[in-house]
Amino acid sequence: KYAQSAQSGPLRDRIAYDGKHQLISVDQFTRESAEEFFRIADLMQPIARRQKVSRVLEGAVLGNLFFEASTRTRVSFGAAFCRLGGSVCDTTGFTFSSMAKGESIYDTSRVMSGYVDAMVIRHPEQGSVAEFARATNIPVVNGGDGAGEHPSQALLDLYTILTEFSRLGKLLDGAHIAMVGDLKYGRTVHSLIKLLALYKGLKFSLISPKGLEMPDYILDQISKHGHVVEPSNELKDMAGADVIYTTRVQKERFAAEELEGYSPQFQVSKAVVDQFCGPDVIIMHPLPRDSREGAHDLSVDLNDDPRLAIFRQTDNGIPVRMAIFAVLLGVEGLVQHSLRDV
Ligand code: CP
Repeated sequence: KYAQSAQSGPLRDRIAYDGKHQLISVDQFTRESAEEFFRIADLMQPIARRQKVSRVLEGAVLGNLFFEASTRTRVSFGAAFCRLGGSVCDTTGFTFSSMAKGESIYDTSRVMSGYVDAMVIRHPEQGSVAEFARATNIPVVNGGDGAGEHPSQALLDLYTILTEFSRLGKLLDGAHIAMVGDLKYGRTVHSLIKLLALYKGLKFSLISPKGLEMPDYILDQISKHGHVVEPSNELKDMAGADVIYTTRVQKERFAAEELEGYSPQFQVSKAVVDQFCGPDVIIMHPLPRDSREGAHDLSVDLNDDPRLAIFRQTDNGIPVRMAIFAVLLGVEGLVQHSLRDV
């Protein structure tokens, strides 16, 4: 599934952020280090499924600080830390943190560093998690910073794609990836396209409503890799894709008037997938899907379609996030030796 690694020394030193064992951006990874990381995620699978037990993080405490709504990221990071024997303290929303009383990111980060061994932070402002990280030396993980990045999501997305391709006997090099939806404010696609760009000869169809296109700073960054990149405003341009990665329109990040070009024509449904893609296409979404009136998100009529990988994708969130903690806290080499039966 992965290429051989010729690197030596701890992975956490090779992916360090500003010299610290923190995960803020996918820019910290090369293809080689990402695949080395995925081998560690593979080791976590039996623990994630509770077929085996490990307590390598016994006594350690995670601070889960979520200043923006979340179900998957917050709970799966917490569950991942607990699966390795640690405990979790969390706070959700500004209202229930002292930031509501005017406390700065710097003070919050310094105070939390004295209480916990690692922090996962989600915050609505792009760049804010890096600010938390600068104020501390403990591991900090970016759980999503506004329209910036979502590196753990991109890692689990790439892990899912490689796992699905392995099952199908396909290689990621040379694949056609269609990204559909809000590519402007969707941080998961910002991180994922940068990770995918580490592979060779890809074709990206970037299909969005007008006004919600992938930002130029991301396109500039991936342009040096020589992939084919085709922006589009029509679903038909996903024709022949190996992966369809759909995203929710991030209505919380912009005014409703900007949504003018968004219509049912952007909904990825079973009819659309059958018309444009083959039996081996993988359909993904970081979730949540927006199921409210007027939303044209990934259709529920694909729920029983084996090509829909969204729940295999969410399941992969646990071993991938366990691997993040194991690597950043430097215990990945102890996990194999610590395994015991349930
Ligand atoms: N994919 C994702 O970040 O989901 P949550 O917002 O529920 O954490």
